[in-house]
Amino acid sequence: MPAYRPEDSNGERRRSAAAPCHLDHRHRLRLAELSTPVRFAAGEFVFRENEPATRCWLLGTGSVVLTALVPGRGTVALETLHGGDVLGWSWLGARQLWQFDAQATTTTDAAEVDVAALEQMALSQPDFGYAVTRVVRGADRPTAVYPRPPARSLREPRGTVTVVPADRMPTGYRVVSRSVETRDSVTMTLVPAAPPPMPLPRFTPGQFMMLYAHGVGEVAISVSGDPSRTDGTLVHTIRNVGAVSRALHDAPLGTIIGVPGPFGQGWNLPAGSDRDLVIVAGGVGLAPLRPVVLAALAAREKFRRLTLVVGARSPADILYRTELAAWQARTDLTVELTIDQPIAGWTGGVGFVTESLHRVDVDPEHTTALLCGPEPMMRFCARALTDHRVSPRDIQVSVERNMQCGIGACGHCQLGELLLCRDGPIVDYATAEPLLRVPEL
Ligand SMILES: Cc1cc2nc3c(=O)[nH]c(=O)nc-3n(C[C@H](O)[C@H](O)[C@H](O)COP(=O)(O)OP(=O)(O)OC[C@H]3O[C@@H](n4cnc5c(N)ncnc54)[C@H](O)[C@@H]3O)c2cc1C
Ligand code: FES
Repeated sequence: MPAYRPEDSNGERRRSAAAPCHLDHRHRLRLAELSTPVRFAAGEFVFRENEPATRCWLLGTGSVVLTALVPGRGTVALETLHGGDVLGWSWLGARQLWQFDAQATTTTDAAEVDVAALEQMALSQPDFGYAVTRVVRGADRPTAVYPRPPARSLREPRGTVTVVPADRMPTGYRVVSRSVETRDSVTMTLVPAAPPPMPLPRFTPGQFMMLYAHGVGEVAISVSGDPSRTDGTLVHTIRNVGAVSRALHDAPLGTIIGVPGPFGQGWNLPAGSDRDLVIVAGGVGLAPLRPVVLAALAAREKFRRLTLVVGARSPADILYRTELAAWQARTDLTVELTIDQPIAGWTGGVGFVTESLHRVDVDPEHTTALLCGPEPMMRFCARALTDHRVSPRDIQVSVERNMQCGIGACGHCQLGELLLCRDGPIVDYATAEPLLRVPEL
């Protein structure tokens, strides 16, 4: 990576200055546009503890030591950064005040970046914001501890540039409708914010998108919409469980969300009209199964019996209530709704989905079962089905693990020999069962 020299008057040279190695050339140029050349003399402080954290620095030459005052130990050096490193980067958006000192140890040239301008640019250009957030969150760092299946590593020697594949770059989508499902879940409709240069490929039921909330991060969310829609809209049901899902869940109408995808293997629907389809969902697990139900109802003649078993903690936790009521009224679909505990006024089933499943008339030779929900629920349901002599090969489960890249490159989603973003999340139970049996895998 070429060193940054503040005396360069040539804009192009300035733009090729030091920038985070995980940003591609285009994003490095954008970052460089926001920078001002600065020089620190040896011993000069770049910033002091408790000063406002409003800038970061792309170091060209020289070095900077980070120090903190530790009670009983005096000033302690935390880290020394050199040319090519980024000072204050991991701090972006995280804190308002520096909590340590940064002091140049030699004459240090740097490009100073205004964080407010950076955030503004990230807001208006989701692909740039996405790339910056990935670096800040360290999303490109592999962490797998199990022998790794073949995967393209994004970890490159320092100073090299990792170019994110074009199909992994997010497209800006705008939130155009937001419907509250339960106390912690919403269903959102997204439309492209601008005509996309290349429309996203159509999803198949069970596939997921990585939804990126500006400045917070991105998470895997299944598509819960109707697969027959061809108008380019996306529908997602999001449960608020942590920082990113909360940002997505709370996003008001008009918010731009970055969307790369679709990723993974979807449900493998049986061919031949002599098959029964048994669909079992627990909680938000109904979201990735909703497209299957819609597809099966749209091509009803392709299946023999169609059964949907839905479990939730309480009536208030049931998703898509209006739609479920309409499905219950149909004669070509059997719907079993169950809640965990009895409650006044509830006329549906009570108990776990496994109990409802035991009531289903299963023809083992002709049944394909699709399960999505908490892992113990899927294991118990799969066992109930195999007790009915359904082959584990005819049972499909949706296995979720922490997804970071979504393209089989980082190893975060590894389960045994599988990379679930690539080989899953839908896996047949014959493959999944031995892996799910291993604790902590
Ligand atoms: C393929 C796939 C499809 C998904 N589809 C949906 C969907 O349609 N709707 C939806 O609401 N969520 C879905 N999820 C789960 C969603 O990705 C997580 O809830 C999200 O990553 C949590 O991130 P966070 O930053 O909000 O919370 P974090 O702070 O990362 O986590 C908060 C809590 O949630 C738990 N958690 C994190 N990730 C998961 C996960 N993958 N499964 C279960 N618990 C998790 C953590 O252990 C922690 O207790 C899906 C996950 C995968 C892998
Ligand atoms: S390998 Fe990166 S999320 Fe699967």
